[in-house]
Amino acid sequence: MTRKFYIKTFGCQMNEYDSGRMADVLAAEGIEQTDSPENADVIIFNTCSVREKAQEKVFHDLGRARLLKQARPDLVIGVGGCVASQEGEAIVRRAPYVDVVFGPQTLHRLPQLIRARRDRGCPQVDVSFPEIEKFDALPPARVAGGSAFVSVMEGCSKFCTYCIVPFTRGEEISRPLGDVLAEIAGLTAQGAREFTLLGQNVNAYRGALDDGETADFAFLLECVHEMPGVERIRYTTSHPREMTPRLIDAYARLPKLVSHLHLPVQSGADRVLAAMKRGYTALEYKSIARRLRAARPDLSLSTDFIVGFPGETEADFEATMKLIEEVGFDASFSFLYSPRPGTPAAELADDTPSTLKTQRLMRLQKRIEEQAQAISAAMIGTTQRVLVEGASKKDAGELAGRTDNNRIVNFAGHARLIGGFVDVVITAALPHSLRGEIIRRES
Ligand code: SAH
Ligand code: SF4
Ligand code: F3S
Repeated sequence: MTRKFYIKTFGCQMNEYDSGRMADVLAAEGIEQTDSPENADVIIFNTCSVREKAQEKVFHDLGRARLLKQARPDLVIGVGGCVASQEGEAIVRRAPYVDVVFGPQTLHRLPQLIRARRDRGCPQVDVSFPEIEKFDALPPARVAGGSAFVSVMEGCSKFCTYCIVPFTRGEEISRPLGDVLAEIAGLTAQGAREFTLLGQNVNAYRGALDDGETADFAFLLECVHEMPGVERIRYTTSHPREMTPRLIDAYARLPKLVSHLHLPVQSGADRVLAAMKRGYTALEYKSIARRLRAARPDLSLSTDFIVGFPGETEADFEATMKLIEEVGFDASFSFLYSPRPGTPAAELADDTPSTLKTQRLMRLQKRIEEQAQAISAAMIGTTQRVLVEGASKKDAGELAGRTDNNRIVNFAGHARLIGGFVDVVITAALPHSLRGEIIRRES
C-alpha cells in the first residue's frame, strides 16, 4: 500500500508555500498526501512562533499525534517551520516521540531525515541555514489552477524589536533573478496566470544577475510583467522602508500589478514606531501611501497592527486610530503584542493592564471592520475582473474568485471557467465575501 503523509500548517504564507514544497519532496518519494492524520504514515507540523499562542498550539497538536503513535509505533512525526528553527533539539527533549525536526531552510532534506531516523533509530534534528541550497534541491514547482506562488526571497534582516522572524528564518537572501523567471515561465506553461511573489520582505529583493549586477524588486516586477502568460501580479509582504520611488512608480507603469498592497505599519505613534525599530515615522508612511495613490488612484491598502506594545499610551493608541482613518486602510491583521523570548522588546517594562489592551484591540478592529465594509459596499455595481479559483466554499454549485483587493466573490458559473479570468458585476457585499454575476468571460 502507498504510504501517506499529512501536513498541518500554521503561520504565514511563507509557511503555506513551504508546506507545498514539503508535499512536493514527499510526493517525489512516492508518498501520497492525505487530509486525515489517522490514515497517515508521516505527520508533519509546519509551525509558527510569531506569537506565543501560535507556538503553544503546536505542542497541543503534538500531544494528539502522540496518541496516534502509541497505537501505531511506525508513525513518523515531523516538526518543521519557525518553532522548529528556534527550538531545535529542545523539541525532542520536550516531546521525545517526535522523529524529525527541520527548519524552513532544510525542508528539502526531509526524505533523508526520515530515512536517517529509521536507520539510526534516534530522532533527527537539522535546523541549519544552508540558505539557497533549498531551491536548487527542490523538484520543479507545480501548479493546479490559475494562481501560483513563487518565493523570491527568504528571511529578514530588519530585527524589529518585538519580532522572532529574523531568528527563525535567518538573514534576507534573494534567489537569482534568472531562477525566479525560469520558475515563472515553467508555471505559465502549466496554466498559471496570476503570480504572487512571496518573501518576508519581498521588496528588499536583491537578486543576482548573470553579469554580476544586482536586480532590485522594481526590476524584478518589470521583468515578470513582460513575461508572456503572466496576467496578474501580487506580492507579499513588503516593508515601508523598502518602498523605493522606483517601486512606487511601478504602480503607474505596470498595469498587471494589482491595485492592492499589504504594507504593515504596526502603529501610528512615532514613539512606538521608534521603540519597535521600524525605521519610519507615521508621516513618512502617509507620504508613501499618498505617492502610491498618486501613481495608482484606486489602490487599496491593507496593513498589520500590533496593539499594546510595551509602554503604548492612550495618546499613542489614538495616533494609530487617527492613522487608520487618514490612510483609509482596508481589511487588516491586528494582534495584541506577544513578548517573544530573546527579542529586545521582551525586556521592556510594560505597565498597561491587559484588559485595557484588549479594549484597544477591539476598538481598532471595529474601526477597520467598518472601513472594510464601506469599501465592500462601494464595490456594489462595479465590474471586477476575477480569476476563477474553484468551487465556492459556501455552495459547491457556484464558483469563487478573488478581486484585486483580495475579496472573495461568489457567483454562478460553469466549472470549466476555473483557471480563467471573468468579469463579474458585484451585486451584494456580505461581511466576509461579495456576490456577483458574470458579465463577460474569456473566449
Ligand atoms: N515582515 C512583515 C511581517 C511579518 S510577521 C513586516 O514587517 O511587515 C507578521 C506580523 O506579525 C507583523 O506584521 C506583526 O504585526 C505581527 N507580529 C510580529 N511579531 C509580533 C509579536 N511579538 N507580537 C504580536 N504581533 C507580532
Ligand atoms: Fe519581523 Fe520586522 Fe522582519 Fe517584519 S520586518 S519579519 S516584523 S523583524
Ligand atoms: Fe510565523 Fe515563521 Fe511566518 S514565525 S508568521 S511562520 S515566518
